Amino acid sequence: MKILEKHKILERNATLLLVFSFLVVTVGGVVEIAPLFYIDNTIEDVEGMRPYTPLELTGRDIYVREGCYVCHSQMIRPMRDEVERYGHYSLAAESMYDHPFQWGSKRTGPDLARVGGRYSDEWHLDHLRDPRSVVPESIMPAYGFLENRMIDGKHIVDRLETDAMVGVPYSEDMIAAAREDFLAQADPDADASGMEERYPGSQQRNFDRQPGVTEMDALIAYLQVLGTMVDFSTFEPDPNR
Ligand code: HEC
Repeated sequence: MKILEKHKILERNATLLLVFSFLVVTVGGVVEIAPLFYIDNTIEDVEGMRPYTPLELTGRDIYVREGCYVCHSQMIRPMRDEVERYGHYSLAAESMYDHPFQWGSKRTGPDLARVGGRYSDEWHLDHLRDPRSVVPESIMPAYGFLENRMIDGKHIVDRLETDAMVGVPYSEDMIAAAREDFLAQADPDADASGMEERYPGSQQRNFDRQPGVTEMDALIAYLQVLGTMVDFSTFEPDPNR
């Protein structure tokens, strides 16, 4: 009772209440913020994560431009129904090279965090041209125009440099070869050994089955890499995190 009596003093004096509230918030703030100054990284390093190839990065920009995130999230929550439907829950590391990340907050369509490798390129092509041709009840808009839009990677060097500026580990070698890698990934006849070295596991093929590099190539290349970089058959979460 006594302590409640004392609390009355605080409650009846606005200035005093303000001073004490400020103290409480300060302590809370310090406890939350101070540890961040003593750790180098809040994201667990995970084997397999690499920056996007120039073509995948371009596809990602198209994904953002077209507003795919308005209907699709890219974050599988660690709940049983989600994990059973979409696969292993998303790790922070899986979006560490995303600027901005595409977690999203709306699922008019399914989560796409692990859509890579789930369908063939042909399926994506049919689906993006006319979603209803493969999923009759779909309400997704058609994006067939993407295959008529040729792209030449004119600005890809600047694009990689911009990401490097905000911390994506694009090396000088990657930036110098960006244009070459951009063109090689969608051309099955190009020599892609350099690209494979720079971006292990990158997929090289003609994604949209037509000559030249189109926005469709880039978007499918991006969709096909989503959620495939980490090998979950060998992945073990760090218990200290
Ligand atoms: C108006 C909402 C909407 C927008 C915008 C949208 N989608 Fe969809 N998407 C859906 C719906 C609904 C489905 C489920 C039915 C289907 O498969 O078509 C879907 C399904 C998909 C699937 C299949 C996922 C799976 O696991 O079966 C992919 C891939 C996809 N969308 C990619 C995209 C891309 C890429 C864009 C942007 C170019 C986009 N979507 C924009 C609503 C949308």
